[in-house]
Amino acid sequence: MERLKKLKRVRFVEPSLGVIGFFMVTVCVICCFFYLDYRAVVRGFRFPFQSERFQWLWVDGVSGSGEETVEFLSEKGGACDVFDGDWVWDESYPLYQSRDCWLLDGGFRCSESGRPDNFYTKWRWQPKHCNLPRFDAKFMLEKLRNKRVVFVGDSIGRNQWESLLCMLASAIPDQKRIYEVNGNPITKHKGYLVFKFEDYNLNVEYYRAPFLIQQGRPPAGALESVKSSLKLDQMDWNSVKWRDPDVLVLNTGHWWNYEKTLRGLYAAHDLTHSSELDVQGLSFSRTEISINMTVDGAYRKSLETVFDWINKEVNTSKTQVFFRTYAPVHFSKPLYVADIDNVSGRRGGDWRTGGACHMETLPELGVLTISSQTWPKLTIAIDVLSAHSNQQPKLRDIDVLNITIMSHKRKDGHSSLYYLGPGMGPASIHRQDCSHWCLPGVPDSWNELLYALFIRREISKARNSAVRNTQVV
Ligand SMILES: *[C@@H]1O[C@H](CO)[C@@H](O)[C@H](O)[C@H]1NC(C)=O
Ligand SMILES: *[C@@H]1O[C@H](CO)[C@@H](O)[C@H](O)[C@H]1NC(C)=O
Ligand SMILES: *[C@@H]1O[C@H](CO)[C@@H](O)[C@H](O)[C@H]1NC(C)=O
Ligand SMILES: *[C@@H]1O[C@H](CO)[C@@H](O)[C@H](O)[C@H]1NC(C)=O
Repeated sequence: MERLKKLKRVRFVEPSLGVIGFFMVTVCVICCFFYLDYRAVVRGFRFPFQSERFQWLWVDGVSGSGEETVEFLSEKGGACDVFDGDWVWDESYPLYQSRDCWLLDGGFRCSESGRPDNFYTKWRWQPKHCNLPRFDAKFMLEKLRNKRVVFVGDSIGRNQWESLLCMLASAIPDQKRIYEVNGNPITKHKGYLVFKFEDYNLNVEYYRAPFLIQQGRPPAGALESVKSSLKLDQMDWNSVKWRDPDVLVLNTGHWWNYEKTLRGLYAAHDLTHSSELDVQGLSFSRTEISINMTVDGAYRKSLETVFDWINKEVNTSKTQVFFRTYAPVHFSKPLYVADIDNVSGRRGGDWRTGGACHMETLPELGVLTISSQTWPKLTIAIDVLSAHSNQQPKLRDIDVLNITIMSHKRKDGHSSLYYLGPGMGPASIHRQDCSHWCLPGVPDSWNELLYALFIRREISKARNSAVRNTQVV
């Protein structure tokens, strides 16, 4: 009898647990929707400066209720760290569709290459303490009239450059009025490409220089396995062409880190894996003396050369210099090759050992705890820049596009299997691209941040010249 009662009680408890569980999950889901919706509403409150162009220039943080977040472009917003924030769902994204933009490599056209989900196009970057201005292509084109925008760096830099081309081209009614000045197609891998926006007499250029510094023939007497050398104290051959644009966006890092390319270029068997890659096949040299250093040491030296060059050669009153930080890769441990760690000797794999990211459809939301050791390339760059700015005040004008951590949250944003181009379908599961990004996608957000910083500088120029004019009168 006693036992029966107990049984009954247990049976009563069981289904109610199920009901409570179900109820909790439902509440959670509903809350999530409200949360996302709320973020979208907050966004709707942005100051609509598209129509009345100059009205907003003089608006000071129009915060009625204490609730509202400040606008980055208002005076109060100036101190906001726009790189500290979260990804929020936004139905009004993406800013363009890849099928509508002819200025894109097949490699970035994920949905046309068969990527089934489009969630990755719907996330907007929301800084914690301020709102970004909504990207306005017409306005930016107007501000860039008769100017040159130059991107220099590796293929991730090219990723960002093509993103900006599409973002700007979305406001050009006649696409024939955008063309490459030498008639090269965007897919051709030339050393550089210059796209002219005829209606605005604007050039948007890309120079391929993955190290930024000079790459040349192997030194005399080098091992046969040495295919190339890097002159750490000399800028890239093309650097005269990037000395005086109006906007200069530099990046480097992947080729210093990314074994795929290092291996491809320099004989792989001479690279030994250890915690700090000790490179013997790769000859780093100062102009004459061959030196023996680690990749990280060489990277540091090359950045010193780059920042010295900016200090000496670039007029930072004319040229707005952006230095984009390292964009993380997301080759995670693939499930289908159990012993992959044994092959690569590392956690996860890379492009040839089956590293994977094709199952990722959502970003990491919320706070990530990341040690500053995770990206030595980021730490080195920030280190070198701050040390140099102490001695060379001009370098304080450099805008760091500090996108490493925000992009780390976007493991869902890579081309993965979908980089073969329209109609080609997915690539082999064993050859994934978890370093480049689908477009539209994450690099658009880098460019929205670039836009915000660019417009902020335009505003401060306008303020200064207004002050000067008043003084004259
Ligand atoms: C870059 O952004 C991250 C995330 O907000 C922040 O923790 C870090 O201090 C920033 N670094 C620099 C140099 O601004
Ligand atoms: C480079 O340094 C390593 C260790 O520091 C040493 O074993 C090696 O012999 C050096 N190579 C050259 C060419 O000097
Ligand atoms: C730097 O650029 C500013 C703005 O265009 C110009 O007024 C100034 O003369 C330039 N300085 C030099 C040294 O060329
Ligand atoms: C890793 O590879 C070595 C040599 O090929 C082999 O002896 C060892 O059993 C492998 N370890 C695992 C966990 O598969």
